[in-house]
Amino acid sequence: MKKLMLASAMIALGLSFNAQAEAPAKYNTFCMACHGTGAAGAPKSGDKAAWAARIEAAGGIDGLVTSAKKGKNAMPPMGLCSDCSDDELKSIIEFMSK
Ligand code: HEC
Repeated sequence: MKKLMLASAMIALGLSFNAQAEAPAKYNTFCMACHGTGAAGAPKSGDKAAWAARIEAAGGIDGLVTSAKKGKNAMPPMGLCSDCSDDELKSIIEFMSK
């Protein structure tokens, strides 16, 4: 029984590590500080409703890429990732909105 519990705890841990590994590297470096916690009114990573409203307001993910590049209020231009490409920003935004 103990062995079984240990095994399932290890599986559960493995699953949560996998979920973390899906985050794009540059999200962890640049965006997580604000978007991981929702600091200063940033839409939280994984808050589908908050992101859906923004995606709709911007006319799609591409609109949010443009907005992220320009910056918005407390959101700094490029989210401080000055060498992020459009594709990288897009995949980070897609990751955060899921
Ligand atoms: C210093 C904190 C901070 C960092 C770092 C940051 N953001 Fe933001 N972000 C914000 C805040 C605050 C908002 C909400 C702005 C508002 O609507 O007033 C926001 C909003 C956004 C939006 C929605 C814009 C819109 O038009 O609604 C996108 C997309 C976004 N961030 C992407 C990113 C990406 C990608 C990164 C990393 C490369 C990043 N952010 C890093 C604080 C940050």
